[in-house]
Amino acid sequence: MVSSVKTTAKYFFDPHIIKIDCDSKTWHPTPHGYALAFGMVKASHIFQGNSIIEIGAGTGIHSILALKLGAKNIDITEIDEHYLTIAKQNAQKNNVSFRYTWVKDWMNFTPEQRYDVVLCNPPFCKAGKANRRWFITELIERAHTFLNPGGHIIFCQSSMANFAKTEQELQANNFSFEVVHRSRGIFRDYYFTEPGFIEESRQVSDGFEIIEDEYIETLQVYLGTLKV
Ligand SMILES: C[S@@+](CC[C@H](N)C(=O)[O-])C[C@H]1O[C@@H](n2cnc3c(N)ncnc32)[C@H](O)[C@@H]1O
Repeated sequence: MVSSVKTTAKYFFDPHIIKIDCDSKTWHPTPHGYALAFGMVKASHIFQGNSIIEIGAGTGIHSILALKLGAKNIDITEIDEHYLTIAKQNAQKNNVSFRYTWVKDWMNFTPEQRYDVVLCNPPFCKAGKANRRWFITELIERAHTFLNPGGHIIFCQSSMANFAKTEQELQANNFSFEVVHRSRGIFRDYYFTEPGFIEESRQVSDGFEIIEDEYIETLQVYLGTLKV
């Protein structure tokens, strides 16, 4: 039997420290994950005293941070049961707990209550569909079914997923929005392993830059507010 190797990483999202355990089946938060966390700290007022749902919690890092930023409660949907188990263990490690957790595809999920914030780091590069930004589009189109009037959506995306399209979709779905965090970074190696990804990204205006032979993407954290 192959034993699962656990590694712990510590993150500092000023002033909060979060400790995350992963085993060989889960991955530690990526640059998108850090960007979302930095954006959450900058927009911390949206969490304070509020009710949050995270879609696709992975290791649980963002839900844990939301609680540290003062969220009243947080519920999670995660399609992968193994991730959810890890997320709950990580919550315990950081002395917080989630309210309800569901192993569910959020696309087939109708919440019994409304939330103040929908939080998500959407999959993109390996999104499992020909239209890689489908998850972002669905998020923007369906978020209102999860939200109280005046509620918020906060998510991170790459320039390769087309910022202009996201901004059009936010407006078309009755959200005002701002970019609360922006950073640039070198492509991760796995981008080059996904057939067609770089070619498709070339079709997106300002999808990426090349600096000294390195491919660079921009990450933006969007904070949308549902107009009342
Ligand atoms: C990009 S990862 C983000 C994980 C974590 N929030 C982070 O940033 O480290 C996306 C997560 O969404 C989950 N996921 C993908 N499709 C989903 C769906 N339809 N419903 C719920 N969760 C989903 C994946 O299992 C994965 O954990």
